Amino acid sequence: MTWKEIDWAVLERLRARFLSGDAAQGPYWTSPADLANYDFTYGKRIGWKWDAVLQELDQRGWKPRPAAVLDWGCGSGVAGRRVTRWFGADRVTLLRVWDHSALAADFAARTAQACFPKLHVEHVTPGFLAGGEPVGMLVISHVLNELPAAELLALRGLATRADAILWVEPGTPEVSRALIEVREQLRARFRLVAPCTHQAACGLLAPDNARHWCHHFAPPPPEIFTDSDWVKFGRRAGIDLRSLPCSFLVLERRPENAGADTDPDLARVIGEPRIYKGYAKVLSCDATGVAEFTVQKRDAPGLFKQLKRPAGALVYRWTRTGNRIHDGQLLAV
Ligand SMILES: C[S@@+](CC[C@H](N)C(=O)[O-])C[C@H]1O[C@@H](n2cnc3c(N)ncnc32)[C@H](O)[C@@H]1O
Repeated sequence: MTWKEIDWAVLERLRARFLSGDAAQGPYWTSPADLANYDFTYGKRIGWKWDAVLQELDQRGWKPRPAAVLDWGCGSGVAGRRVTRWFGADRVTLLRVWDHSALAADFAARTAQACFPKLHVEHVTPGFLAGGEPVGMLVISHVLNELPAAELLALRGLATRADAILWVEPGTPEVSRALIEVREQLRARFRLVAPCTHQAACGLLAPDNARHWCHHFAPPPPEIFTDSDWVKFGRRAGIDLRSLPCSFLVLERRPENAGADTDPDLARVIGEPRIYKGYAKVLSCDATGVAEFTVQKRDAPGLFKQLKRPAGALVYRWTRTGNRIHDGQLLAV
């Protein structure tokens, strides 16, 4: 696919479907061309979100053992391919794809096989989904707002058969809140790897934090801002290319009787730091909850500069008194 081959009518139809909420009414892919157009545009943006999440997992030093990967609700398969590339195709013992649209599952399987010729790629059968076999690493991307309650319940059931779950969604308040609900339902069985730095109840559930939601920003490749095709896509799709908000959750099965395995000093900044003249404010999440802290430029000029131009996931060890941060050490790769 190239920009010259893009079918704008297809993209507009898909966009209308996503925006109207009709995407929850059943399969909407009408041809492999739909998936190719999606993969080249919307799918690429989703891929950049995945890159940021996977980079954060590197930053956190998390690398699971070789495993089978299941991309559930795969669409064009961008998430499964990104995870395979990050994990290493030789460490993925089998890539399974599933979508209630057979067109999508076919496209995802074919594309993954073309990208990773030695990879064993398989369509999942409804029998496998209904059974009790382990699923390995479960990958879920941008499906939550298309799932009726019964489907979400079935997906949660599938999640309990996973050794690890990597779940990325748009960074909207509604979807983030739905993902927090999933977090709360799964955290007894799983250890939270990211974005949380702790295993306690989500601090955003506190009534004082009702106006916040858990979202983060992935950096799009800077060259797209000067690429006339991307600029045209952004305009036609009504998308601000600079902003890639996402919500995500990464969990791994908690070994029997394992302790919390948490570093109580780590905090994760939610959303973006807000920069003012001479100071910055951050919404900070750690084991004690979610609260707004202030960084004065004169207290910590280096940290202030870092917060103005964040690079990587904003996971910090703060030195602070109350809500005033005196310094912060970024968790480095
Ligand atoms: C917005 S697309 C996202 C596709 C892909 N995961 C990605 O991140 O690009 C949502 C996908 O979920 C699939 N889907 C929606 N409801 C589903 C269900 N109940 N079972 C399986 N797949 C479903 C749709 O067919 C579609 O391919």
